[in-house]
Amino acid sequence: PADGQSPPWYPTPKGGTDAKWEESYKKAAELVRQMTLVEKVNITTGTGWSMQMCVGNTGPVARLGFPSLCLQDGPLGIRFADNITAFPAGVTVGATWNKDLMYEKGRAHALEAKLKGINVLLGPAMGPLGRMPAGGRNWEGFGSDPVLQGIAAAQMIKGIQVEGVMATAKHFVGNEQEHFRQSWEWGTPNAISSNIDDRTLHELYAWPFAESIRAGVASIMCSYNQVNNSYACGNSKLMNGILKDELGFQGFVQSDWLAQRSGVASALAGLDMSMPGDGLRWADGKPLWGSELTKAVLNSSVPMDRLDDMVTRIVAAWYQVGQDDKDKWPMPPPEGDGGPNFSSWTNDRVGFLHHGSDDKTTGVVNKFVNVQGEGDDFHGHLARRIAAEGTVLVKNEDNILPLNRNGWKKDEKAGKEMKYRVGVFGEDARANQNGPNSCVDRACNTGTLAQAWGSGSVDFPYLITPIEAIRKSFNEESVYVTDWPANKLPTEQEGILHDQDLCIVFANADAGEGYLQADGIRGDRNNLYTQHRGDYLIKKVAEGCGNNGSAPTIVVIHAVGPVMLENFISIPGVKAVLLAHLPGQESGNALTDVLFGDVNPSGRLPYTIAKNEDDYGPTSKILYLPNNIVPQQNFTEGLYIDYRHFDKYNITPRFEFGYGLSYTTFHLSSLLVNPKSFTKTLLPAPRPAGINPPSYPTDIPDPSTALAPPGLRKLGKYIYPYIFSTSDVKKGKYPYPPAYHIPSTPSPAGGAQGGNPDLYTTVAVITATLTNTGPVTGDSVVQLYITYPPDYVDEETGEPVDFPVRVLRGFQKVRVEGGDAKQKRAEVKFELTRKDLSYWDVRRGNWVMPTKGEFGIEVGFSSRDLPLKGKF
Ligand code: NOJ
Repeated sequence: PADGQSPPWYPTPKGGTDAKWEESYKKAAELVRQMTLVEKVNITTGTGWSMQMCVGNTGPVARLGFPSLCLQDGPLGIRFADNITAFPAGVTVGATWNKDLMYEKGRAHALEAKLKGINVLLGPAMGPLGRMPAGGRNWEGFGSDPVLQGIAAAQMIKGIQVEGVMATAKHFVGNEQEHFRQSWEWGTPNAISSNIDDRTLHELYAWPFAESIRAGVASIMCSYNQVNNSYACGNSKLMNGILKDELGFQGFVQSDWLAQRSGVASALAGLDMSMPGDGLRWADGKPLWGSELTKAVLNSSVPMDRLDDMVTRIVAAWYQVGQDDKDKWPMPPPEGDGGPNFSSWTNDRVGFLHHGSDDKTTGVVNKFVNVQGEGDDFHGHLARRIAAEGTVLVKNEDNILPLNRNGWKKDEKAGKEMKYRVGVFGEDARANQNGPNSCVDRACNTGTLAQAWGSGSVDFPYLITPIEAIRKSFNEESVYVTDWPANKLPTEQEGILHDQDLCIVFANADAGEGYLQADGIRGDRNNLYTQHRGDYLIKKVAEGCGNNGSAPTIVVIHAVGPVMLENFISIPGVKAVLLAHLPGQESGNALTDVLFGDVNPSGRLPYTIAKNEDDYGPTSKILYLPNNIVPQQNFTEGLYIDYRHFDKYNITPRFEFGYGLSYTTFHLSSLLVNPKSFTKTLLPAPRPAGINPPSYPTDIPDPSTALAPPGLRKLGKYIYPYIFSTSDVKKGKYPYPPAYHIPSTPSPAGGAQGGNPDLYTTVAVITATLTNTGPVTGDSVVQLYITYPPDYVDEETGEPVDFPVRVLRGFQKVRVEGGDAKQKRAEVKFELTRKDLSYWDVRRGNWVMPTKGEFGIEVGFSSRDLPLKGKF
């Protein structure tokens, strides 16, 4: 219901019901059967903030060879580590629309993780989805559309896990803004509640998680916020109902760091791992699980079989990616010399072994293992490719781009004695004088912007700035490059503009995670304009370049998401605009690859750029001030975010979702819509039965077996699974949630990973021909949108069903040769599934595919440039 209330869903469905995980569950059950109560609990609970080397670490079961797991951020690269790659951010990866690159990014990232001793990567991020364009963490994900997010997430997860590292799909769900995401950063008694109706949850926010589960993701992180007024990490409908029943999730749910707000209740609601293990506050040493979970099992307020399921899920996920396999997982076990070979808490070689505790024991904690790859496999090459492909060219008047290394365009100055003069303007073109890592978790906007801030940032091993790459790219014999490294251009200095033949001006917009702030930005952006008066600088340069704007200006913007361009986009001198997102360490090189045409731009906008901030709609604004004791955010726009909103209300954006230019031109033809012979049924086939999960004896052991071993040297604030006296276990009557004893009905939309397998039956195949009609080879992103039958009424109830004008359902990035080449065309193919053509019906609790009326198929180059149209 859309009433801001979350219905109960109990008990937790057990893992081990999917044949694809059968072997792993078998092995896991064998191991778990040998574990004592405290050993089991140890696996479910972090050892406390900064107690070990990673941002999260679980307790080991050394006796049985099960290691302490190292969990490390984040979606972009490896946080708090040396000799790693600072890859482009998620939004940049999304802007490539390149499935192979998404997969390769996952692989390279996981290779680095594995060699550092990381078992679980805390990424990819697919929530926030981008409901609010100013959302502080949108840049960690792939763009404001569930299908783009879902495909990108699935590709990345496959890439990560094929290398033997567990991926984490985060944050589930509704963490769309940073303000009030939890209470302690914001001084509110409670976290915000994202109130999302069931249809919107299914068709938008849960969609990429469904794709992640279908891709076999090992872990899901529940978010800080509340959903329908129940904490996401204690929400039985979300974890038991949606993830574990309907979407058939076989891995484990871990809490975001302190997002767990209850002990017993969260266990019953489906949480499997408490991170970082502390209690309600950072490093308070008072866990909600750990010894408390042990007690809760002993006093029977958490059923033994719930604990067994938590542990089995975690151990099975470990087997599932092959971490027991010495070939796949070369890292030695954590006893002795093994485990992570870096420390999150110091850059020195020697440091505390338990940084967060009172224990002052030191050891070698950083071994400085270089994991960046070598030669052709140097990950910087991949980072550069992604950054170049994630750069979106939105304006290119007079084909000003690509540039000529000798400086002139079309031989204007050829033969002349004088050098061609290029002026580069703006602080975003240059280095941060204090080094690229001078601010904590990148929380400052100084120098060129190549990552945003928060737990999703990493230390740059190096950062190629735009100015150095531009200088290097021009032929210095014939080109003179001037650099104005500030956003302020005082009137008396404006002369610098006048003798330029070409100006390149930089501006940016930063944001980040809510625990840090910079320039008065507390995570979420305050507006959608460039920052540090970037618009003013661009205007000044474009109007002054050459003789009062007679020379062309190229605008480059580094940003976390959509930026308003209206203040300068139509100035006659502005000939080209490039949106380079957050490019990572290879920033300058990737940019010059595009500027000089070594890479033909093929990035496409993963969001809409409006002409006006208000055009995104009234509910697209961040709630900057609390409106309730539990701040309430009602997702009343439902399905209508980003382009769906613009299409519904007929608002013309500046640049639409999916838009981007190339140095060549493409043509699409020969649309073929081929419906498969399928039984036209409203609902998917009945839910198939899964296999049986492992079972264990349910007897509760004697409390004395859970006592701390005699002589244990207890570290301050370290989280242990033990009880310290049997009198800690007070048997009483601990009531279960009222609905606990009324087992919920399994969803008809369930049955396998990602949901009922029939939802993924192909119901139509669509093909089209793409031709390169221009001078050079290039990649095009062919996009497929569908429209639902017009004026559709539910075939059983006669009730009208509202649909977005169109929704993205697939894309293919295709390279086609240009110029004189023979092979100037390629066939593009899409498969549409039942789910692609269905809507979520709240009353039936199932996906419904209209069988009456016609679906429209639109294939083209953006959400508003759809030359091919068909029906079936
Ligand atoms: C909180 C962030 O929300 C999450 O994304 C991150 O993985 C954890 N902190 C651990 O750093």
